[in-house]
Amino acid sequence: MMKKDAESLSGAEEFEEKKGKFITFEGTEGCGKTTQAEMIAEHLRLEGREVVMVREPGGTAVGEKIREILLDTRLGDIAPITEALLFAADRAQQIRDVVRPALQAKKIVVADRYVDSSLAYQGVGRGCGLEAVKNLNEWATGELEPDLTIMLDLPLEEGLKRAGELERDRIELESLEFHRNVRNAYDMLERIHPRFVLVDARGNPGAVHKRVLLEVNRVMQES
Ligand SMILES: Nc1ncnc2c1ncn2[C@@H]1O[C@H](COP(=O)(O)OP(=O)(O)OP(=O)(O)O)[C@@H](O)[C@H]1O
Ligand SMILES: [Mg+2]
Repeated sequence: MMKKDAESLSGAEEFEEKKGKFITFEGTEGCGKTTQAEMIAEHLRLEGREVVMVREPGGTAVGEKIREILLDTRLGDIAPITEALLFAADRAQQIRDVVRPALQAKKIVVADRYVDSSLAYQGVGRGCGLEAVKNLNEWATGELEPDLTIMLDLPLEEGLKRAGELERDRIELESLEFHRNVRNAYDMLERIHPRFVLVDARGNPGAVHKRVLLEVNRVMQES
């Protein structure tokens, strides 16, 4: 499909002037993405800003159905390409129905994972290939890029230990080697994208929040 067609389908054409800020959280299992996304959203709301939090998969009626499939441990073997397509399908719905309208209304969107997760997990971890997953997601999102991506940096074992306190989902049950590949992919993304910042995720949630806040404040000051 031509790029122009993809843009008009996803609503990118009338969206050249992005008004709000789009902040995404990334990182390996249990590094504190959900905790920190919630803390920053709360902080920004207390400053009087309008914040929309999104999690993926999910966030729309269609997305929540897709989420059920993706996290269901009973389904076992989902083909890597199917997994990549399902994540992209969920994203396309959420971008059109939730994220773009919020940004157009000058709100701040805080996302618990986004396209970089697919590049790392499906592109590299599951071996679908970075280029294929990148192209798929450019189509699904109309190339909507975050203003800031906070990559929470925590040793893998520590994150898995934190996450292990809760019930594990299908993806968390993957081998340590899978998670190492995911981590390496994130490191590569961090080297190529200036919007990526690595934030030390060790220490208590309040200490990590202070580090996150420094980065968010910097981006909030940009016009
Ligand atoms: N700084 C911290 N120190 C210790 N425990 C933490 C910290 N931040 C979060 N936790 C706890 O660790 C677990 C994982 O945190 P959280 O759910 O925020 O991580 P996540 O990156 O969203 O994980 P997942 O990849 O599974 O979605 C939770 O039980 C949370 O309460
Ligand atoms: Mg989480």
